[in-house]
This record gives sequence, structure tokens and C-alpha cells, in this order.
Amino acid sequence: VTLSDEPAVVNSPPSSNLTQDELKKIAAYKAVEYVKSGMVVGLGTGSTAKHAVARISELLREGKLKDIIGIPTSTTTHEQAVSLGIPLSDLDSHPVVDLSIDGADEVDPALNLVKGRGGSLLREKMIEGASKKFVVIVDESKLVKHIGGSGLAVPVEVVPFCCNFTAGKLEELFREAGCVAKLRRKIGSNGGEEAPAVTDNGNYVVDLYLERDIGDLDAASEAILKFPGVVEHGMFLGMATTLIVAGKFGVTVKDR
Ligand code: 5RP
Repeated sequence: VTLSDEPAVVNSPPSSNLTQDELKKIAAYKAVEYVKSGMVVGLGTGSTAKHAVARISELLREGKLKDIIGIPTSTTTHEQAVSLGIPLSDLDSHPVVDLSIDGADEVDPALNLVKGRGGSLLREKMIEGASKKFVVIVDESKLVKHIGGSGLAVPVEVVPFCCNFTAGKLEELFREAGCVAKLRRKIGSNGGEEAPAVTDNGNYVVDLYLERDIGDLDAASEAILKFPGVVEHGMFLGMATTLIVAGKFGVTVKDR
């Protein structure tokens, strides 16, 4: 790993007895060390990012951080931050974000990411793309050699209009990679699939399940975005500036 300058890399003691959630919390707390008073901070979404949001509010309450403005990447995070009393704003009022902290579903060695299995990829990409620094926090289970080839989905946010047509086009595009495109549905209380899942922006999500990796990521990104029914996809290429991984061998910080 390439070591970061500030804050210093910590190789904490082996933590093999910790749960996945405890590892997520460790990575999140480490990331919050990058937050300084007066910053505009992008607040990520998901089970890892929620620990970072909670930690920021704790430090605000303790007076160890002051004058933070949070920019939430989803309605869920907005609600969490409001409940914890973190002052919030948006990109219209704060177009430059000092630092964003968020989780990821997959991370490759070049710090390319898959995000959006929680469905918030569009706002995440807008806010993290407007950030001077983007710190990604994961437990070690998220590390992959190639993103998009692990058998898990690459999410694509699409407009609801003729979403099956758009899904079909996406599947065709990645036929050689063994792609199956599936409209994401809400899971009902009995565990069965229900109506399409709706994003914070009123759109749907098509999950691309790939048997093999999709090769040139920039070309794949460009090809997906060419379809008029596509709003955005969950590959975050060249956006992360720092990766914090918590695993059984401790915490590792890697800068791009
Ligand atoms: C939500 C995301 C999340 O950051 C990603 O799904 C990781 O989630 P978790 O921290 O719960 O594993 O992209 O859209």
C-alpha cells in the first residue's frame, strides 16, 4: 500500500474477533480523523457511512469539531444527520465539498469502486464528485481484483419510463460478459419481491449481474451512459482519493 501523509497510517493490532460491523465502525472512525472544524463534509450512505455520521455528531457534541456543514447523499442519511443535530446544506448552496466519507460495495487496487447497492448512487456521485477529497471506508470483504466481475451487481439508475427496454439494452451491451440485467424490486415482509424499488430521485435501479469482468471500465462507463434511459451508473472511476480498510490485520490507509 501507498501510505498517506495525514493523518498517519495506523496498523492497529489484529482484530480477528471483531464482527463485520465493528470493522466498518473502525474504518469510519479513522476516516473522521480527516474532518477538521469549518469543513463542508459529504455524508455517505449505508451501514459503514452511518458510523462516520454518528462519530461526526459525537465530536460536534463534545466540542472537538466546530462549524461542520454536512451534505447528505440520501434521504436516509439526511434523516440520521437531522436526528443527530448535524447542520446540513446541499450542493446548490455549497458547490465545493472539502471532504466526503462513504462506503463502497467493491474496491479494486486502483481505488475504482462499485457503489449503489443501497440505491443512492446518483446523489453519492454528485456530492463525492464535487469533493476535494473522497475517503472510502470498507471492511476487507469489499476488496476485489476487478470491479464488476465478482458476480455481484453493478447498479444503474434508470428512468421508470420503459425501464425493461433500457434493461434489455444494457444486457445486450454486456452480453459477452454474461450479463443479466434485473430490475431491482422492494422485498416484502414475507421475503418476496414486490414493486420496483424507487430511488430518492424517483427513478428505478437496474442491477447488472456479470459473469465475467467487463474489461475497459472507462469504455463500459461511456457505453452505459449513452443510453437515453440511463441516469447514472454505480462505477465510481478515479474518484476516491483515499481508501481506509479495516480487517483482521488492522487498519490500512491507502492514497491514490
Ligand atoms: C449506497 C452505497 C453504499 O455505500 C454501499 O452500498 C456500501 O454499503 P455498506 O456500507 O452498507 O456495506 O453505495 O448506495
